[in-house]
Amino acid sequence: MAKARSSYSCTECGAHHARWLGRCPSCGGWSTLVEHSDAPAPRGAEFLASSPGLAPSTKPIALRDVASGGTPRLHTGIAELDRVLGGGLVPGSVILLGGEPGIGKSTLGLQLAASVQARGATVLYVSGEESVEQIRLRAERLPTLPEEMVLLAETRAEAIAEPWRATSPALVLVDSIQTLQTERVESAAGSVGQVRECAALLAAAAKATGATVVLIGHVTKDGALAGPRVLEHLVDVVLMFEGDRGHSYRVLRAIKNRFGSTLEVGVFSMGESGLEGVGNPSELFLAERRAGAIGSCVVPLLEGTRPILLEVQSLVAPASYGTARRTAIGFDEGRLALLLAVLARRGGVDALNCDVYLNATGGVRIVDPAADLGVALAIASSRLDLPLPPDAAAIGEIGLGGEVRRVARLESRVREAARLGFKRILVPASEQSERAASRGPAKSSRLDAMARTSGAQLVPVDGVADAVAWLQDSGGAESPR
Ligand code: TYD
Ligand code: MG
Repeated sequence: MAKARSSYSCTECGAHHARWLGRCPSCGGWSTLVEHSDAPAPRGAEFLASSPGLAPSTKPIALRDVASGGTPRLHTGIAELDRVLGGGLVPGSVILLGGEPGIGKSTLGLQLAASVQARGATVLYVSGEESVEQIRLRAERLPTLPEEMVLLAETRAEAIAEPWRATSPALVLVDSIQTLQTERVESAAGSVGQVRECAALLAAAAKATGATVVLIGHVTKDGALAGPRVLEHLVDVVLMFEGDRGHSYRVLRAIKNRFGSTLEVGVFSMGESGLEGVGNPSELFLAERRAGAIGSCVVPLLEGTRPILLEVQSLVAPASYGTARRTAIGFDEGRLALLLAVLARRGGVDALNCDVYLNATGGVRIVDPAADLGVALAIASSRLDLPLPPDAAAIGEIGLGGEVRRVARLESRVREAARLGFKRILVPASEQSERAASRGPAKSSRLDAMARTSGAQLVPVDGVADAVAWLQDSGGAESPR
């Protein structure tokens, strides 16, 4: 087939050019030109022609005539995945599953395929990365072997159409979108132009046939690879699979979801036989905790709307030479420096001249500001050589004035902590005073009610100094060094 003509457009200013240039003559941006096809309609339209019965209606319709009750869904049978998708796969939609190489995207894809296959639906698995033998090897590690799944080791986008027509699958998996290449544009596989064109083609085919398409895409830490970013507006759902390769814990997050909330997250653990949903992540994270250890504090974080308990550990050591070291794993180093300064100036715990190490256990990356108070307490505990009580947890964001600020969803965090046996929970005092003031003096505060329902003792703290004083009162017996 003859190569289709293509042209280039600038991603910054939108100007069109007949050939590729390193710098856009219109806006002066460097490397901003991407290729796209000049062919009139996407190839996916062929699917429409070949399967007229499945063609979606494009007639205008009054809103009242649109059936209510939401979109029909195909449950995946993987609870954590269904939760993130908002109930299951939507026919005719396109899902982008992104993540760093080696995080487990292919494994999740294969498990999804197996699960959908087990429900009697046909699955077409297109792999441009692995041979069919490699896929079989991986599949044998997983709990169920999807024997009927149709495999296709292919990198040419056009070659998918025929098996697609022949098998009429309910689910088409493409691993990965970066390996796919269409004749419509000339650039190399994995380039922005190719990735976008291939995805558009598959999206059109999904709409035409009613199949759900899952595109697997790699992203690097700095997003350098052409990929998922350029696809976000093209697809219906963007899922990111995150985690630390050295740990088993994985989080599946929805960045965009046209059919559900982006607040839900799925939690998995990668084991010997694939990914397993983790219904109780807190228990997983606290399993190795040594209760009452110096420099350790438990913080209830939010992953989406879900509270998850995590241990933060800190080690404060005398700086041996030169400037003091700051090393944080799973926590922002700038934030750590800020908390150290606030602790020194407002909390009376000076670790500014010491080496400070901080570790969020389990390979989790903490972004929730509510962890501030727990991090500060872990540092203070190590600096003062005083352990926190084993049943203590801390919730609160810390401001530059040393004040402990309110956080989102305090109640669900408190409930999760209490459920796991944490009976003394430090919470922002501002939560109490403001609410109580607005309701009048006679009413009991929200914190009292929370303490009653959760069965935990809530310790309201105004600022870091309060928290440190509480640590000194209730922590170990020795006096601070
Ligand atoms: P993979 O799904 O290939 O990652 P991606 O497609 O995102 O690049 O899996 C990556 C890692 O997972 C790999 O190092 C091996 C590991 N793994 C397990 O630990 N257990 C398993 O059952 C499987 C299939 C893989
Ligand atoms: Mg892979």
